[in-house]
Amino acid sequence: MTAHPVLPASTPAADTPFATRREVWGLPWEPRRQRAGVLNLKSCELRHPAAEELVLAAARRLTAADLLHYPYQQALRADLADYHGADPDRILLTAGSDSAVGLIVDALASEGRGLILHEPAFESWRYYAALRGVPVSGCPGLDPDLTGVDLDALHSRMAAHPPAVVVVTNPASPAGLAVPPEQILETADHARRGGHLLVVDECYGAFTGITHVPLVASSPHLLVVRSYSKTFGLAGARIASVFASPALVSYLSRFRPDSTVSSVALALLRAVLADRDRFTEVWNDVRAIRSAFVAQVLAGHPRWRALDPGGNFVTFTTGDRRAPGLVARHLDRRGVRIRSLDGVAGLEGCLRVSLADAATMREVAALMNEPAALS
Ligand SMILES: Cc1ncc(COP(=O)(O)O)c(C=O)c1O
Repeated sequence: MTAHPVLPASTPAADTPFATRREVWGLPWEPRRQRAGVLNLKSCELRHPAAEELVLAAARRLTAADLLHYPYQQALRADLADYHGADPDRILLTAGSDSAVGLIVDALASEGRGLILHEPAFESWRYYAALRGVPVSGCPGLDPDLTGVDLDALHSRMAAHPPAVVVVTNPASPAGLAVPPEQILETADHARRGGHLLVVDECYGAFTGITHVPLVASSPHLLVVRSYSKTFGLAGARIASVFASPALVSYLSRFRPDSTVSSVALALLRAVLADRDRFTEVWNDVRAIRSAFVAQVLAGHPRWRALDPGGNFVTFTTGDRRAPGLVARHLDRRGVRIRSLDGVAGLEGCLRVSLADAATMREVAALMNEPAALS
């Protein structure tokens, strides 16, 4: 018997020239499409004029060798060790953290081990789990009034569940709420006691100054995923780090993620890391832009609330299940894409807007405050 059922001739995909896995056809897939003239405030890319200049300057420093030769990672790994304060043998590079999610599901959660997801979580966890037939146990992760993150229910779930990969996102996404890393240390201890592996996705950590990387050295049951897409403006370059025990890094390396991280991505990340202080200024400015945007939107919608502290985005709770769809449609007609979260369990009535420069956000807030936005 094969591990995966093959596609019977009668399915809609019967015209494939070779047997394929039927369950894969059931997964939703759509290529990213760019709409001319539309401002994407849905994906939390870093949209800041200073960051744009820094990334362009990094691109100008590329050399022919970055295109002609296979990628060598030593120099960047040494820089990352210095930047994150982690030993190089605890660092694994992947082509974006989405790839890291696929790798972790493949390498660590398959073979019946399963995933416990503190939800809402990044959609790719459930996607890759479905792709690999990995069972998922979802655990609601937010206080019902959306004032904080609840880890107690997760700890109880972990105590009752056989060893699994447990995923927490801190700061949470798409909610934006955060817990101090010391609390995550407690969750890592629950992971150790239950024989689980705790994965912390800290995609938006830099915007709130949160990192769990220093905890990895003393917690072999902890693995941290850190994207450079949002924080260093490298969403298009596709590069992220995984921090784990040297043994886990060595195991995961055997899945060969090194062959998917380009020399160009390595060189760009090296260059932007050299400008880290200027990125710190960008992150500070993003926080200021966020505060001004929140104040302007709440002045127009006094019943709404902005969840704290967020990343380079703001999640508003509107208290009205219709509002997110209406506002998203209103903005879409004016060339701005945002994300209605109404379909996300635990975030009913919420919407998320990722941040751009101050002037743009003033315009977006003005559009959100138009009376037509809710009609
Ligand atoms: C919480 C979270 N994790 C991971 C990712 C994936 O980021 P990337 O693959 O660009 O590193 C995203 C992207 O939106 C995200 O929001």
